[in-house]
Amino acid sequence: MSALSQEQMAQTATLEQLYPKLATVGLGAGWNKPTPSLWPTPHKTFPPAHWRYAQAKGALDAAGRLINVELAERRNLILINPLEGNSYATARTLVAAYQMIMPGEKARSHRHTPNALRLVLDAEPGTYTIVNGAKLPMVPNDVVLTPNWCWHGHGNDGKGCGYWLDFLDVPLVHLLDPMFFEPHPQEFEDNAQEAPQSPFIFSWADTQRRLDAAPPDPSGRHGTCVELGNPALDTMALYMMRLLPGTGTTGYRTTANTLYAVVEGEGTTNVEDQSFAWRRGDVVVVPSWHRHVHLAPRGAVLFRVTDEPAMSRLGFLRSEAV
Ligand SMILES: [Fe+2]
Repeated sequence: MSALSQEQMAQTATLEQLYPKLATVGLGAGWNKPTPSLWPTPHKTFPPAHWRYAQAKGALDAAGRLINVELAERRNLILINPLEGNSYATARTLVAAYQMIMPGEKARSHRHTPNALRLVLDAEPGTYTIVNGAKLPMVPNDVVLTPNWCWHGHGNDGKGCGYWLDFLDVPLVHLLDPMFFEPHPQEFEDNAQEAPQSPFIFSWADTQRRLDAAPPDPSGRHGTCVELGNPALDTMALYMMRLLPGTGTTGYRTTANTLYAVVEGEGTTNVEDQSFAWRRGDVVVVPSWHRHVHLAPRGAVLFRVTDEPAMSRLGFLRSEAV
């Protein structure tokens, strides 16, 4: 910082002389900013995008030959949003990844402040996640939570490879800075007890029963929809949406960032002027404030992961029919 005195500042004759003086003392003229700091509606910085499970699964099978979990903390493929300059996030606050664990493998336990969850795609009996010492079976279409600072690791005692989708709020933690990470002191939680009824797991069997009993969403935005948890995690809410054959959803936009993963069926999501044709295991990201609808001529189930709880607690959650 320069040593300009109050007097020297006060005697500045012109704006052209004032601006460089301001720069030397760490001030900027609010009336002369190069870019505005306020605007009327969201900028929609992140574009919508689509990832195909078939491609990711092929790549994970190659990675299974090429890298083992001794070298990699996790064998996963990150869904990197195509926003220019982005190298990690799937949306502003969320990241998703496809992950695979081979028979006989164990992925070391660790804990971190980011909240995480996974949607199981393909797994045979014997694939499991350990959360705080409880061993949870991973069955296709189950959702398993590992909240902020819970110890967690994965293993596969089965005969086939286990594949799932991870969802985390790491980009939000990057924005806010409260990142902590710790490897488990024993590396693996060896004495884990089986706990199929854990509060950290939403079984597909239960979810299907709840969907069968649920009325259609009156807003028309979500088909028939049940929430997993209330919310499941401090920063992320989770929903299963069943789209009946031939029925589409009504268009809307929300300030919440949303990831849709396909649990069953085929269909299309139209996000503003883009159209994404999806099938089981695919992911579509609908970033903040993008109008979107889903179409599933033969019916489908979508898993919706959103940052609604974070937006809501901060007072920033808005949505509207469009
Ligand atoms: Fe983790």
